Amino acid sequence: MRRSIIIDTDPGVDDALALVYALNCPAFELRAVTTVHGNVSVERSTRNALGLLELAGAALPVPVARGAEAPLNGLPRREADFVHGPEGLGETPVFEPRHAPDPRPAWQLIRDEVAARPGEITLCAIGPLTNLALALAHAPELATQVAEVVLMGGAVGVPGNITTQAEYNLWADPVAAAAVLSASWPVTLVGLDVTTQVMCTREDFAQIAQRAPRVGGFLAQAAQFYIAFYEQAVGIPGCHLHDPSALIALSHPEYFRGERMALEVIQDGEARGQTRRSTAGGPEVQVLTGVEAAAVKRVFMLTLSVADCGPANA
Ligand code: RIB
Ligand code: CA
Repeated sequence: MRRSIIIDTDPGVDDALALVYALNCPAFELRAVTTVHGNVSVERSTRNALGLLELAGAALPVPVARGAEAPLNGLPRREADFVHGPEGLGETPVFEPRHAPDPRPAWQLIRDEVAARPGEITLCAIGPLTNLALALAHAPELATQVAEVVLMGGAVGVPGNITTQAEYNLWADPVAAAAVLSASWPVTLVGLDVTTQVMCTREDFAQIAQRAPRVGGFLAQAAQFYIAFYEQAVGIPGCHLHDPSALIALSHPEYFRGERMALEVIQDGEARGQTRRSTAGGPEVQVLTGVEAAAVKRVFMLTLSVADCGPANA
């Protein structure tokens, strides 16, 4: 049974990898993409999302709706352009998409799609959670209508990456993160506890580019800047597959282990964005704590290797 999904994203190099994975994974029907501030401005993330869907050959209409340009806490954004490049996709040519975004704001597209297909839509959030929090605020009934919410974010048993305590997506909008993690919808948190165990090297991307010269070649070029950051700042000979791991946790849950727990998100101070086991109870989320990293990498590589053949869905 294919899963109908909406991807909320801030492309971003690993977001691009996740989008192309989703388009080529037969387990998914990509219903829509919504964009958010984060790695780059929402203008750039929207342009990048439109361009990636056109590049990857997504059959229209996969609508792309532009979302929030800033976090709910009103604090200044901190883009991760030092990780993903000033335009968000490394040093690749800047997209000039042929198609315009959907006229609705992201939260409204999410609400409309979920309300039209109650129980069928899974939300996959791989950027800051502002759009999901806005959708919940406008339509609280979403919490009972979605099939599932899968989030790339958080760090429960490992250090953070934007600070030692916090992972970037939850740090970027802690108010939204708290709203999303305390709602009554079913949430799976794919955090640094598992995503930092999955790594691809320059050689891996060269293999993807060799097997899929057009789409894989573009992604391999985008990944060079991203890997250079990891080599210099993290000291590994490759890059972590944060966002693709969230989509693979949905298509291949058998490769992951987890634990249910209620979480709180620290709102400010040095620990802003940190996810801690809640002492005040609240809805439990499934926190992934273990992964068969080799299997995840294998399915990622195999799926991207056919990216030039046109999407398996959408
Ligand atoms: O911490 C990793 C997350 O932050 C990923 O989603 C990456 O794209 C950045 O948004
Ligand atoms: Ca992201």
